[in-house]
Amino acid sequence: MLVKSVLASLSAAAVAMAATPLESGNWVTANPGFQLQTCAGGSASGSTFSIPTSPNGSTSGSGCSNGHLRAENRYNDDYSTGVHQFAGTFKINSFGGNKVAIKQTFNGSTGPYFILGVKSDGTLYSVEGGATLASGVAKVGSSVTINTVHNADIHSFRVYVNGALAFRDDNAPSGSFYDKIGAYTTDSGTGPLSVTWSDVAFWTRQ
Ligand SMILES: *[C@@H]1O[C@H](CO)[C@@H](O)[C@H](O)[C@H]1NC(C)=O
Ligand SMILES: *[C@@H]1O[C@H](CO)[C@@H](O)[C@H](O)[C@H]1NC(C)=O
Repeated sequence: MLVKSVLASLSAAAVAMAATPLESGNWVTANPGFQLQTCAGGSASGSTFSIPTSPNGSTSGSGCSNGHLRAENRYNDDYSTGVHQFAGTFKINSFGGNKVAIKQTFNGSTGPYFILGVKSDGTLYSVEGGATLASGVAKVGSSVTINTVHNADIHSFRVYVNGALAFRDDNAPSGSFYDKIGAYTTDSGTGPLSVTWSDVAFWTRQ
């Protein structure tokens, strides 16, 4: 037990040191809680999220009304003002499908605002609008670090892939937002997919 708890605190320290905020400013760590949402056959084990090939037909559960495959952590980092940063590293373990969302910045009022999707060839793209963020980076077994910086006060939203700016929206909508990570099929997407997120961190700028 002692060895286990020492190892657990060592790995917690490693996680805390690994994630780094991008852009200048006084970034203060936030520690939002989360709820796991699973739909239609999606499941999670720790921070590994899995969806099968096709939905099991069930539409019961939080966020399941459309019957899409889902296994996502919904973070309780809701905000409508201020500057907020997310960081996390994901690795796709296996992928037999296409066009699966792995990270969302959700507009609490109306639904998704920015959805990061991955295509079968490892290309990262914006599901809303279709812009390519990075071609072929998210291949099975490759670790990819994502940072999002959202300045809700000036309606600026930026996404970094492995530290490089890959997407920006300087006309982001108003609203109340929160983050989700995991696996979720887009309207034209299919499983199966297994993805592991690590080094997940949140900051607010003071
Ligand atoms: C479908 O999968 C969900 C979890 O993603 C589960 O809660 C539900 O019981 C499953 N339904 C059936 C009919 O297997
Ligand atoms: C987000 O919600 C707000 C209402 O709070 C709405 O005005 C805005 O259009 C929504 N934007 C998107 C992209 O859903």
